[in-house]
Amino acid sequence: MIQGHNYQRLLEISKRVNWRIEDIIGPDKPMDFTRPFLPESFARTGELSFLTPAERLKLNQIRGFGYLAMFELVERCILPVIEEHAPSTPDQDPHRTEALANFVTEEMKHIELFVRFRQAFRAGFEVDCGFIGPAEDIGSAIRSHGGLGMALFILGIEWATQQHWLESVEDDEGLDPQFKSLLKHHWMEESQHAKLDAMVFHELATKAGPEKTLAAVDAFLAIGAFIDGGLAQQTQLDLASLEATIGRTLPDADRETFLARQHQAQRWTYLGSALRNQGFLKALGEISPEGRAKIDAVAPAFC
Ligand SMILES: [Fe+2]
Ligand SMILES: [Fe+2]
Repeated sequence: MIQGHNYQRLLEISKRVNWRIEDIIGPDKPMDFTRPFLPESFARTGELSFLTPAERLKLNQIRGFGYLAMFELVERCILPVIEEHAPSTPDQDPHRTEALANFVTEEMKHIELFVRFRQAFRAGFEVDCGFIGPAEDIGSAIRSHGGLGMALFILGIEWATQQHWLESVEDDEGLDPQFKSLLKHHWMEESQHAKLDAMVFHELATKAGPEKTLAAVDAFLAIGAFIDGGLAQQTQLDLASLEATIGRTLPDADRETFLARQHQAQRWTYLGSALRNQGFLKALGEISPEGRAKIDAVAPAFC
């Protein structure tokens, strides 16, 4: 047990929370392309004064598509890791395996949710938006950083979804209700996952010892650096999607500004929102204060 969490309780909450995909997206719940999808704190289109309001809306929606594709990719990547951790030994909590198996089932549902939203996006948006890949290669590269570093990565990304939901609540620009519902419902189940992650990370870190746990923080930061390279590529693809949608090529100076500002916006969306999340920092800090200090030192670059 860690921080008052326990497997049985988390399993009970999860069964109570459980929602269905058709409650969130479907023929009777279409995406509204007259509205933004991502909160402005993540999209940061307002920083690009050379775009008209209509062009900024298109960019917001392109970033929304990237969000769907990114979470589908990340969740496909973490699924085998959770499956690997699910078997328990007789000395472990009797509800541990069921709780982690349920976690896997929910993650498979989330992948399907992101797929359904991507299909709805493609049906309603005028151009095909690019996304980095192939997903299998990216997933293998992330998983190659070792079990404990990977466990820390999963802990971070799942806590980040809390920030995504909270900032959609604060956003006053009238987000698409379906996209907002996705962020809300995803967090409702990720909330249990993040606590399960903390418990699994605690188990692994206790076994590994302080030195290897600190090395895992370096592995986690290496995963972050790898993803950051992918985000730079994604920003280029988003620029191409935007230009195709709005039917004009931006002047060189505007393209440069776009790439710099949007790369930073992507950093905050996928990396900074994990590195700054108090739940993530607390879970890590309880096990490795030194590890947490390392995260605190690099976090400003991703905000
Ligand atoms: Fe998920
Ligand atoms: Fe999750």
